[in-house]
Amino acid sequence: MSDSIRTIQVHTRPAYTVSIGSGLLPQCGQRLRDVLPLCHVAVITDSTVAPLYLEAVKQSLLTAGFTVSSYVFPAGEAHKNFEALSGILEFLAEAHLTRTDCVAALGGGVAGDMAGFAAACYLRGIHCVQLPTTLLSAVDSSVGGKTAIDLKAGKNLAGAFLQPAAVLCDTDCLASLPAAMFADGAAEAIKTGVLCDESLFAQFEDGTLTAAPEEVISRCVAYKAGVVERDEKEQGERRLLNLGHTVGHAIEKCSGYTIPHGHAVAAGLAIIARSAETLGWTEAPIAARISACLAKNGLPTGTEYSAEALADAALADKKRAGGDITLVIPRRIGLCQLKKVTVTELLPIIAAGLEG
Ligand SMILES: NC(=O)c1ccc[n+]([C@@H]2O[C@H](COP(=O)([O-])OP(=O)(O)OC[C@H]3O[C@@H](n4cnc5c(N)ncnc54)[C@H](O)[C@@H]3O)[C@@H](O)[C@H]2O)c1
Ligand SMILES: [Zn+2]
Repeated sequence: MSDSIRTIQVHTRPAYTVSIGSGLLPQCGQRLRDVLPLCHVAVITDSTVAPLYLEAVKQSLLTAGFTVSSYVFPAGEAHKNFEALSGILEFLAEAHLTRTDCVAALGGGVAGDMAGFAAACYLRGIHCVQLPTTLLSAVDSSVGGKTAIDLKAGKNLAGAFLQPAAVLCDTDCLASLPAAMFADGAAEAIKTGVLCDESLFAQFEDGTLTAAPEEVISRCVAYKAGVVERDEKEQGERRLLNLGHTVGHAIEKCSGYTIPHGHAVAAGLAIIARSAETLGWTEAPIAARISACLAKNGLPTGTEYSAEALADAALADKKRAGGDITLVIPRRIGLCQLKKVTVTELLPIIAAGLEG
């Protein structure tokens, strides 16, 4: 196997390895033999990814000696719902997967979240491996063990924590990603740069990656792994990873999930940076620098929705968690902090960040 594969250990319970590099999907069977018994692997993927990569994954698993079955659900965030989850769970039962078998989530964040949640629920939890195929799932969603589906009331409102047994991130998959979907992943990577790493942020400032994607993915995963190790269940530090997401999730919901997650997070990040500057929590020119970087990468820096509509959408989720909202505020590129605000403070904060 190639030496150019990078690996990052995630020391959660259980611990696992994230492997990043070229050619990993056609080797997935061999590689999973290291972490799984010879079991039944149910590959769950979506209707766009299936024709691209499903056959290679199945062949590799079969060659390595696994029993393999597969289930394809319709692509898109609009299908990250109960109906699709129920289809996956019924499929796992009909395929007679047992507690020692495994789900393989092949695809972007939607496949990862939904197949991961199915694995967490089925028989009260079976193994799951993540095979991310978008930049977004590579830099963010495949690592950390959060799984979820959306409810009518909001994003990711039903879910579970389930750390994967392994993550294999084949960077060759990025070649088939349309530019707008590459940009979605750039949004989460730029978010990571704002959180912890100015040089990572700078990779995106001229709009063309100067480092190899392996390098960018590794840096994002290494940062996220450290945060998740220290706060697996998001009781403190892990909330930092939600930078841009309070407003981002509200934008997704207002759009009926037609605006992709990464684009919504980009707008949410630009808005909270402008709010922070306007309200004196940080100093110029951080908001302009973040907006310029997002725009260079084909991402939005604002939204057509009103502050009222966004606050309503955000509060529909947040009220369920009790009185306060924890926002993530950029202090400078590479450093952010958590700030608790009350539900009544949210509307003026969002309003302060909207352009014009
Ligand atoms: N669990 C977490 O920690 C976490 C973190 C961040 C985001 N998320 C979730 O991830 C989701 C967004 O992920 P996403 O942007 O990957 O969305 P996605 O899974 O919907 O993928 C975007 C589109 O790209 C297609 N696609 C996937 N791989 C492809 C490839 N290699 N070539 C061509 N097309 C391909 C998919 O079929 C889909 O149509 C959201 O639901 C978000 O809430 C979860
Ligand atoms: Zn996100």
